[in-house]
Amino acid sequence: MAKKKRALHVGVIGLGIGRWHASNFDESRRCKLVAVCDQNERLRTITCDKHGLPADSGYGDYRRMFADAKRTGLEAVSIALPNKLHAPVTVAAMKAGLHVLCEKPMSTSAAGARRMIEAAKAARKTLMINFSSRFEWESWAIKRAIEAGKIGDIYFARSIWHRRRGVPIGSQWFTTKSMSGGGPIIDLGVHRLDLAMWLMGNPKPVTVSASTFAVFGPDIAKKQGKTYDVEDLGCALIRFDNGATLILEASWAANIQMADEIATHLYGDKGGMVYRNLSDEPWSEAILFDESRGGPRDTPLAKPAKATLSSFQEFVNACLDGREPIATAQQGLDVQVILDAIYKSAATGKEVRLTTM
Ligand SMILES: NC(=O)c1ccc[n+]([C@@H]2O[C@H](COP(=O)([O-])OP(=O)(O)OC[C@H]3O[C@@H](n4cnc5c(N)ncnc54)[C@H](O)[C@@H]3O)[C@@H](O)[C@H]2O)c1
Repeated sequence: MAKKKRALHVGVIGLGIGRWHASNFDESRRCKLVAVCDQNERLRTITCDKHGLPADSGYGDYRRMFADAKRTGLEAVSIALPNKLHAPVTVAAMKAGLHVLCEKPMSTSAAGARRMIEAAKAARKTLMINFSSRFEWESWAIKRAIEAGKIGDIYFARSIWHRRRGVPIGSQWFTTKSMSGGGPIIDLGVHRLDLAMWLMGNPKPVTVSASTFAVFGPDIAKKQGKTYDVEDLGCALIRFDNGATLILEASWAANIQMADEIATHLYGDKGGMVYRNLSDEPWSEAILFDESRGGPRDTPLAKPAKATLSSFQEFVNACLDGREPIATAQQGLDVQVILDAIYKSAATGKEVRLTTM
């Protein structure tokens, strides 16, 4: 007799982008959305109604949600709260015996990320970081091409996410360092940093030199009576132990042409690649550049025929199959160590040498 497929019982905490998590889990055949949590009652009601959850499965306090896990059958949560809450809520979820998918950035500091890893190890539960950029089809196509040796050894990369004017002032916590850990470097740059490192094969970083600026953000916030104590542009030069170097850039406000300029360039000894957004349809492209036929050749990478895996599905699969997810907590910590070093280097004006990871 065929074994009945088990569905992972999942809850979502934080219903901003978390509403998107809830929809993804609800659509997945391998999981069941059983609870949601937000301190905002209106968001709880909207989300429960949309997914047919009873009102008593919508919680205002995540501790009550965890305490009620036996009743709801809750086994895993995704955490889409302000950055400062990622570490304490992950640790509490692990102590309650739940698997965790945590939004990027993993934490506001490497110390917080380490506490999360220790809690996951003690609970023997899955901890995955939602580095969703890895799950875009262009990222998969590039990763596959790299693994097939198309560009050889990558010695240089440049990964950027600039916005012309896009300071996330609304909910206030993004622009308050004690809640967010930083500005666009930790918000947008974290995606481009993780993606570049993953594509480069996760080499070990050894030094970081960075600068940050706050040119437009403070005035934009002041006009709205909001706090602003983070950067609005940051850049960093990161050297790895294999000799490769990565340049990272991110901004919420800068005098550039496009509304958003997102790109990851990879330079290898056999070829190069870029994944970048475009200002018109098809909105993005991934191209391989090489000289393999005796002259310059540009080959657009094709979208895989099968729909690519989402980060949500990967999390559910990893929990049910008892294996490490694609975006591991250790990789989240490695990224976080670099983020800490970027802010330290920018504050001191000195290069930071990374001794421990
Ligand atoms: N992977 C991605 O591409 C992506 C995209 C957007 C946001 N994010 C990340 O998701 C997280 C949330 O971002 P957002 O844009 O949804 O923020 P948001 O401010 O829109 O939503 C956060 C929600 O958390 C709720 N909340 C705050 N404190 C709470 C508490 N103690 N208990 C219960 N609920 C609480 C708020 O009421 C709010 O609804 C951030 O870490 C952000 O970096 C990731």
